[in-house]
Amino acid sequence: MKGIILAGGKGTRLYPSTISISKQLLSVYDKPMIYYPLSTLMLAGIRDILIISTEEALPQFQTLLEDGSWLGVKFTYACQNQPRGLADAFLVGESFLGTDSVCLILGDNIFYGNGLSQMLMCAAEENQGATIFGCYVSNPSDFGVVEYDTDGNVLSLEEKPQNPKSNYAVPGLYFYDNTVVGIAKQIQPSSRGELEITAVNNVYFAQNRLKVLPMRRGIAWLDTGTHRTMLKAANFVETIQSRQGLYISCIEEIAWHKGFITLEQLLERGKILKNSDYGAYLLRLGQIFKKQNGSERYEST
Ligand code: TTP
Repeated sequence: MKGIILAGGKGTRLYPSTISISKQLLSVYDKPMIYYPLSTLMLAGIRDILIISTEEALPQFQTLLEDGSWLGVKFTYACQNQPRGLADAFLVGESFLGTDSVCLILGDNIFYGNGLSQMLMCAAEENQGATIFGCYVSNPSDFGVVEYDTDGNVLSLEEKPQNPKSNYAVPGLYFYDNTVVGIAKQIQPSSRGELEITAVNNVYFAQNRLKVLPMRRGIAWLDTGTHRTMLKAANFVETIQSRQGLYISCIEEIAWHKGFITLEQLLERGKILKNSDYGAYLLRLGQIFKKQNGSERYEST
């Protein structure tokens, strides 16, 4: 399975901060926003990742993330010159995907919590058709809303409904088989001129190939589209990290935990970043691991 991070868009709700810089390069507390969706893909075990952004922002993403070898993953970059909608990711990413299945994540979505890794790996391994998630929220009208039965079979799927049939919103994390490319080519732009992901999901629904996994209440889903939600997300990350001493979405830690990089690579990265708390955390992790059974054992809890 391959991964796509959709990190384009104009970020107009964050103006003037995003006039000259991509939203996904802004910091959410102590690391660039894109680290968060990237960590989610890595937790799903995905190592071949396409980053889609605007022509102006792509060189900056390349400076930040390079080819991915330092993280034991492979990054490919592609340009979306107009925000034509979320489903456009599959048209921009068609040659990257080839015959593979895909996990699409939006560049401004943050997931964190108990059972996340297991949920992601199950979705990646077991997906037949499409797998999306249902996340209980207090304001479902702001999102795609899904109504489903106890087996995860969808009963209805609506984009930003005035009278939502459930409190389950669909977050920006989607698993699809390779037929998604053909489906994305078939759908028509909506009244706002975008290729809507809900239209793609509705095709899978009509084909009886759409599954919804409930996102357990122990998992936090945060989006960072406005200044207020960005601040809330930053406060959330700071609160957890300073209380536990364990970092959220530390991509080098996840890469080491997954066996994508060696302890030496983790420490090397720590040295480069050592003047920041983030770098010091990597060095601290490295020292702890070294003391544990000659370093090859890792306890993530
Ligand atoms: P949005 O929040 O819908 O759009 P935006 O980021 O441009 O923000 P605003 O509404 O403030 O103008 O997008 C959600 C995510 O998807 C975000 O990470 C940007 C990304 N995106 C694209 O990369 N291309 C697109 O065509 C669209 C619609 C979104």
